[in-house]
Amino acid sequence: MIVLKTTRELSLMKEACVIAAGALKAAGEAVEPGVSTEEINRIAHDFIVKNGAIPTFKGYSGYPAATCISINDEVIHGIPSKKRIIKAGEIVSIDVGATFNGYVGDNAATFAAGDISPEAQRLCDTTRESLYEGIKMAVAGGRIGDIGSTIQRYCEERGFSVVREFTGHGVGKQMHEDPSVPNFGTPGRGVRLLPGMTIAIEPMINMGGAGIRQLPDGWTIKTRDGSLSAHFEHTIAITSNGPVILTKI
Ligand code: MF3
Ligand code: CO
Repeated sequence: MIVLKTTRELSLMKEACVIAAGALKAAGEAVEPGVSTEEINRIAHDFIVKNGAIPTFKGYSGYPAATCISINDEVIHGIPSKKRIIKAGEIVSIDVGATFNGYVGDNAATFAAGDISPEAQRLCDTTRESLYEGIKMAVAGGRIGDIGSTIQRYCEERGFSVVREFTGHGVGKQMHEDPSVPNFGTPGRGVRLLPGMTIAIEPMINMGGAGIRQLPDGWTIKTRDGSLSAHFEHTIAITSNGPVILTKI
């Protein structure tokens, strides 16, 4: 069931999204060689709690942390650890959610630790740009397939591939609501987009093949071929005035 939000609900949700965005910014600024992923997680966690919000991920299906931190060939759902020290040249995807006013804000971005290769930079740039291209398609009267097909075309034209097994999602009082928001698809197909819909758009883009595998920890998702992967996410609202990025500070 898709839950449409009123203007008043969108302003309550905006506050949750701004906290999630602030947590992502603080965590991203802390990414540098020598820092553990647990330390990055702590920074995001403390930011959320200091702002009176709840770390949405913690306890979700038993997930143990406030963030997912996924390095290099890890696509998503990497579990922060004091043993995982970030090294120069790595790309670090941070995903964080905050619950405030009873609403969830969900966002992610990939950060560079020190100098990264030009190919890694191009992967990160393309993934971020594809998110913004997808957001442009999130207009009332359009279809879910307009978003996914735009992201897919943008990334595949540049030689990268789209993870299929995980998608964006509706977001609101729950982190995961209908509809599913794939990063691939066919223009003009899928659920009709309406004012008041709030969705998380989150391309997960691999440098090599689209295949993934899950590690025995039950969470971490890696690329099957060991190639690098990037991930960017915003929570957005579809309004009669076009898409609004709620997780923009
Ligand atoms: N932010 C992720 C998503 O968009 C969810 C993280 S999974 C969790 O679906 F278990 F860590 F919460
Ligand atoms: Co999400």
